[in-house]
Amino acid sequence: MSEAGKPIVEVCLTPALFYQYNTKESIVVAIDILRATSSICVALQYGARSIVPVMTVEESFQYKEKGYLIGAERQGSMVEGFDLGNSPFSYMEDKIIGRDIALTTTNGTKAINIANGSAGIVAGSFLNLDVLAAWLIEQNKDVLCLCAGWKNTFNLEDTLFAGALSQKLLPHFQLSEHRDSAIAAMNLYNLAKHDMYDFLKDSSHRTRLERLKIDEDVLYCLTPNQTLVVPVLKDGVLKKHSDW
Ligand code: MLT
Repeated sequence: MSEAGKPIVEVCLTPALFYQYNTKESIVVAIDILRATSSICVALQYGARSIVPVMTVEESFQYKEKGYLIGAERQGSMVEGFDLGNSPFSYMEDKIIGRDIALTTTNGTKAINIANGSAGIVAGSFLNLDVLAAWLIEQNKDVLCLCAGWKNTFNLEDTLFAGALSQKLLPHFQLSEHRDSAIAAMNLYNLAKHDMYDFLKDSSHRTRLERLKIDEDVLYCLTPNQTLVVPVLKDGVLKKHSDW
C-alpha cells in the first residue's frame, strides 16, 4: 500500500509480464472475458459448489474419477470426453447444481494458477463487475488486474475489462508508478464502452469464436452485472466469497 494510504490498482496486460509484479500483498483479479472467468462466475451463480482450475486435460480426468464434473476448452471448443465446454450457457444447466467442477481452458485457468502465492486470487468478468469492485474496495488491499490474453499475448477484451474495473476502483484506489497499462486500459474501455461488441469485431478471439458460431457467448460475456458472485480461490479451489 502506498504512503498516501490508498491501495494501488495496476494492470498486467499479459501473463508473460506477470513476473514483473510482486503480488505477495495484493489481490490478483484473473480476467478471461471470452470465456473462462465469465463461465466461472455463471457456474457459481447458478449453483455449482466449487470449481478447481486445472492446468491440463490429463489432470482433469483424475478429477472425474473423484466424482467431479469436468469441463475443458481448447481452441475455443469443448474437448472430447468432457461433461462441459466453456460456454457460459452450459454452466446454467441443472446438472451443475451442487456439483464440484474441474475446469481447464487454454488461458483462463492458467492465469488463475500462475497467480498462486498472491495475497488473494479472484475471478473477474463483466458479469460480476459491480459486485467485484465493491468487494475489492471493502478489502482495502492493492489489486493487480491480470489479463489472461491468448497464449501469453495481449488481447482487447481482457484489457477492456481491466480498464472498466480500474476506473470503478479509482478514486478509492490510486495508480502506481507503473501506471501506463492501467491508463491505456481505461482509455480503451472508454473508447469501447458504448458498443464493446462492435469495438471487438476484428479482434482475434471474436474472430476465432465466430468460426465456431458462438456469438451469443460473446454478447453475453460483454453484458455487465449478470451475476452477484465473487469467485475467490483458496487452496486451489474457487468458491463464492460468501461460501468461504
Ligand atoms: C481461454 O481460457 O483461453 C478461453 O476461455 C477460451 C475460450 O473459452 O474461448
